[in-house]
Amino acid sequence: MYNHSRMSILSGKHILLGVTGSIAVYKAADLASKLTQAGAKVDVILTSAGEKFVTPLTFQSVTGRRAFTDKDLWGDEAHVLHVSLGKTADLLVIAPCTADTMAKLAHGIADNLLTVTALAATCPMLIAPAMDGGMFDHPATQENLKTLQTRGVLVAGPASGHLASGLKGVGRMLEPMELLGHIRIALGKKEKLAGKKVIVTAGGTQEAIDPVRVITNHSSGRQGYALAQAALDAGADVTLITTPTALTPPVGAEVVNVKSVQDMLDALLKEKGDALIMAAAAADFRPKSAAKDKLKKRDGIPQIQLEAAPDILKTVAGSGSGKRRFKVMVGFAAESRDLLENASEKLKSKGLDFIAANDISATDAGFAVETNRLTLLFADGTQETLPLMNKSEAAEKIIEHIARLLE
Ligand code: CTP
Repeated sequence: MYNHSRMSILSGKHILLGVTGSIAVYKAADLASKLTQAGAKVDVILTSAGEKFVTPLTFQSVTGRRAFTDKDLWGDEAHVLHVSLGKTADLLVIAPCTADTMAKLAHGIADNLLTVTALAATCPMLIAPAMDGGMFDHPATQENLKTLQTRGVLVAGPASGHLASGLKGVGRMLEPMELLGHIRIALGKKEKLAGKKVIVTAGGTQEAIDPVRVITNHSSGRQGYALAQAALDAGADVTLITTPTALTPPVGAEVVNVKSVQDMLDALLKEKGDALIMAAAAADFRPKSAAKDKLKKRDGIPQIQLEAAPDILKTVAGSGSGKRRFKVMVGFAAESRDLLENASEKLKSKGLDFIAANDISATDAGFAVETNRLTLLFADGTQETLPLMNKSEAAEKIIEHIARLLE
């Protein structure tokens, strides 16, 4: 998953985190901490079995807010607490969610503060099951899972791997970073690109010289991955067409792995959607032919003849048989001089709705750094100069403009 510090989708959100009795509670404390750091208001409800593994103090310490337990169900505020908690929340997350709690949720049993709250809640619910493999595979659990999914409950995981019993199987709760990805998708369902399809390309293409060597460039893929995450946060269905990078794709993106300009073009010609963002650094030249076998030193210094690689944006723009394959098309222009003149020429020649001009001569912008300094040039002649910002922030700005153009 793409891991970056900025998670504005979580800022100011009210998350209700239910914690039930599983050893995976240690991951829940980390999740509560990450949500809080991202600016969410996190109210934790522990079941009595959850309290056997961890105390409310653990969660209070990371959220800075009181954590609730079953004692609160019978306290002074009891008659309203379960209703108020579930009404004001943007999302109810139960992580870890045991087989027992899943069974209660599926059957409407409300015998503790968490399950009463879940029954009264009007917000969406996401559960992260955690249990032994045999318990997860049991027909009763599987039936309960189906019932909950049919009712619209979102289910994250479980993953397969080492279980507390010492066995291997499906039952491990997802890691906190992955859960964060699922929470972002759940919150994105109400955002401005919900129901829209966005295709993002990322990374530097690789053009084979022989089976071992390639011609490539310095693109890290960071801006493209940040764009994919920002589009997911905005609720879009995202396809990320990517060359090999050191990054993990964001949770929820459909990933298509490619290497060359030709692969990327072929992958794009299979797609249709509301927006295309060409953040990839695609090659302009490629070896005319790749050697079938490794070029050997003993054969002397090879002469590599280059030819023009297809221009992906131009090809895609002209491939819709009258109708555009993508309603909004966005390109990038990485320039080391005459930034705006060159970008403006590309905006027109590639038939784009807007282009993000990137001054790569600056040391704080462009390849392999965390920040970018972009100027957006629009087809209607307007411009917006963005200050130096994190690539995630720049991605959010670009996504906002796409949403505006799609309105
Ligand atoms: N692009 C493309 N196909 C290529 C090369 C680039 O679609 N074969 C896209 C890039 O993804 C980017 C935009 O075109 O969104 C501009 O890329 P850039 O490399 O800045 O421009 P080029 O058209 O390649 O022109 P030049 O290299 O001469 O500046």
